[in-house]
Amino acid sequence: MIQNEVLDAIHSRRSTRSFTGEQIGTEQLETLLDAAVWAPSGGNNQSWLFTAVQDREALLRLNELVREGFRHWAPDDSYPGKLAAKTASQKESYNFYYHAPTVIIASNKPDYENAMADCSLGLENIFLAAQSMGLGSCYLNQLHWLRDDPGVRIYLFELGIPKEHTICSAAAIGQIGKASAPPARKPNTVHIVR
Ligand SMILES: Cc1cc2nc3c(=O)[nH]c(=O)nc-3n(C[C@H](O)[C@H](O)[C@H](O)COP(=O)(O)O)c2cc1C
Repeated sequence: MIQNEVLDAIHSRRSTRSFTGEQIGTEQLETLLDAAVWAPSGGNNQSWLFTAVQDREALLRLNELVREGFRHWAPDDSYPGKLAAKTASQKESYNFYYHAPTVIIASNKPDYENAMADCSLGLENIFLAAQSMGLGSCYLNQLHWLRDDPGVRIYLFELGIPKEHTICSAAAIGQIGKASAPPARKPNTVHIVR
């Protein structure tokens, strides 16, 4: 197979769930956010907003609001991860962003059918750029699940995310504490028609 730096980053990127706590550099953060906005977007909308939160107290407050939100939240389908997240969130030690020093929240205008796709492409750019700089990253779904929770939303508004935006996803970013093992790739998930 062909090998190059981009493909190396694609293959070596893992979802990091253990961070050292050491903050990333300003230039690193700016590089990650720049990588995000160079992602493709439907119709070149670029209607996303990538909000980086590095204030430790703000992140801890958000974690408390997520825990509180999960208490009142009922999954609207049978996706197993949702129930597991709700259950896990009630443990005292729960921290949805794994104590990463930086969390980047991707939001977008509502009633835009490519909102999730555009934000996810931006996040993947962030993940690969992070990998290329030796940083760990992880996709976080909790703020999307709790996007309509009043407590979470009011606080995100206070952090500068427009009230009318829908929360698509988020990324935990930081120095890698414990590296994650690569999960095996499932067979028969690609198909070529010639
Ligand atoms: C849509 C989506 C939601 C995810 N949500 C979470 C999450 O909330 N917390 C988490 O730790 N990982 C989350 N992940 C990461 C996956 O668990 C991870 O990508 C998968 O286990 C494969 O591991 P790898 O990323 O190291 O290849 C999510 C990934 C995607 C694509």
